[in-house]
Amino acid sequence: MTDQLTPVTVEPGAARCPGPSTRDIVLGDSTPTPAPLLEESYAFEGDGDLPYEEFTSAAYARAEHDHMWSRTWQWACREEHIPEPGDYQVYDIGDRSAVIVRGPDGDIKAFHNACLHRGTQLKPPATNGYSAKLRCPFHGWTWDLAGELVDLPCEWDFPHVERDEFRLPEVRTGTWGGFVFVNFDDDAEPLEDHLGVLPEHFADWDLGERYVEVHIRKKLPANWKASAEAFLEAYHILETHSQSIMTAGDANAQYDVFGDNVTRFIHTTATTSPHVPAEKRPDEQELLAMLMARKNAGDEVPEIPEGERARDVYARHMQAVLGQQYDNDFSDLSVSETIDSIEYHLFPNAFFFPGLTIPLVYRFRPDGPDPDRCLYEVLYLRPKPKTGKVPQPAEPFDLDVDDTYTSVPGLPTSLGQVLDQDTANLAAQTRGFKASKKRGQTLGNYQEVRARHFQSMVRRYITEGRAASGDTGPSTNPSTSSDTNQGAHA
Ligand code: FES
Ligand SMILES: [Fe+2]
Repeated sequence: MTDQLTPVTVEPGAARCPGPSTRDIVLGDSTPTPAPLLEESYAFEGDGDLPYEEFTSAAYARAEHDHMWSRTWQWACREEHIPEPGDYQVYDIGDRSAVIVRGPDGDIKAFHNACLHRGTQLKPPATNGYSAKLRCPFHGWTWDLAGELVDLPCEWDFPHVERDEFRLPEVRTGTWGGFVFVNFDDDAEPLEDHLGVLPEHFADWDLGERYVEVHIRKKLPANWKASAEAFLEAYHILETHSQSIMTAGDANAQYDVFGDNVTRFIHTTATTSPHVPAEKRPDEQELLAMLMARKNAGDEVPEIPEGERARDVYARHMQAVLGQQYDNDFSDLSVSETIDSIEYHLFPNAFFFPGLTIPLVYRFRPDGPDPDRCLYEVLYLRPKPKTGKVPQPAEPFDLDVDDTYTSVPGLPTSLGQVLDQDTANLAAQTRGFKASKKRGQTLGNYQEVRARHFQSMVRRYITEGRAASGDTGPSTNPSTSSDTNQGAHA
C-alpha cells in the first residue's frame, strides 16, 4: 500500500509525495484560492537526530522556564474572558503568574501576581472573575486597576514606603485576533514583530470575530513539546487516524516555515489520501457520499455538477449548513477556507486554524516542573452571529489524563476520537523516550520540518539566554544533530 510513496532520491528536503500536491488540488477548486494559501515557504533545515533528552530532562525543562517562557510572547486568554472593567484572569506559566485586568477605560493591563509587601499572590492560580481593585488577602495592601497603591493598612508604620515607588509592576501585554498575549520580558520585541506573517495572512480571517463555543483543558501524560509536535504534521494520519484516509489528504500535505515564529500545514479535506491504491479509491460521487454520511447523515447527496469535484459541492454544503447554524453567510469563502485543515503554529505554543469547518485553536504548556506532564487547551472558535447576542464564552471543561475527549459536551465525537488517538500515542512515546537505546528522534525532511524548526527555536532561546546570564548548564547542542539551522530562519 505504501510502495507508491517511496521517494525519489533528490536533494535533501526536495522530495515530495507522488501525485497531486495540496497546491495542485486547491488550484483546481471551483473558487479562487486566497493568496496566503498559495504561498509556499520551505527550506531544508537539517536531518540530524534530535535528542530525547530535550523532552525528558528536568534540567532542560528548567532551562526552558528560565530562558524561553521568561522571554517569549504567549497567549494568556481571550479578550472576551475579561469583557468589562474590573474583570480579571490569572495566567500561570511555571513559577510566573500574571493577573490580566480590564481597566476602567476598557484598556487591558497585566501585573505580576505578587504583593509588594511580603510576596503573597494577589489572586489564586488559573482564576478569573471581577475585582474592582487588587487587594492582597494577607494584610490588605490594595492597588487599583492602573497599578497605583491605593490602600496601605497602618500606613503610619511604613514611612519608608513611597506610594509612587510601590506601583504594581506590569507584565507586557498585546492583543491580536481576540487573544491577549503577555511577555514577562520588559525588553522583548513588540508582539507585532513576534507575530510575523500572521496579521497579513489572517487579514480576512479575523479570529476576533469569533466566540468560544467549546473550551477543553486536558492534562496530557507527555512533554509539552512532544505533544505540540504531534499536531505539527499529518504524517501520522495513515497509522493513527486511518479512519480519515478515504476523505482527507495526508502525505501530500503542504508544510511551510514563515520566519522564526510561524509555521503552517495545509492538508486537504474531501480528497483521498495518496496512500490509498487506485483500485480502492472512491470516485468523486462516492467520496461526497462518504463525507455527507459522516457529517450530516440523512442529508440527500447532491449530484456533482459537470466540471466540479466532491470538495466543491461539499464546501457549498458546509457553508449552507454552518451559515444556518451560526446565523451567517459564508458563501464568499473559498473551498479551501471552508473545508481544509489549515493550521498555523505561533512559537512557542499556540495553534490557530482559520478555516470554517475546522475552527480550532489550541495551546500546550508545561504542567509544573515535571517534563512528562503538560496542559493542552482546545477551543472551538465559531463565527459571531450577524444578528442577536454573541454567546458567552464556554466555561472550560476539565479532562484528567485518563478522561476521554468524547465526554466533552459540544465537541464532535469524531474529533474526540481523533484526539484520544493522539493522546494514546503521547503516553507511549513518553515511555519510549526513556526505554530507547537510540537517543534521538529521526525526522522526515519535509513532513516534519515544523517540528525541527520549533525545536531549534526553543534551543536558540536557551542558548542565548544562557549566554546572556553566564549560565553554564548542560549543552543544548544536539550531539547527534547536523542541523543547518539553529532557529535563525530567513
Ligand atoms: S503580603 Fe500582601 S499585604 Fe502583606
Ligand atoms: Fe493526530
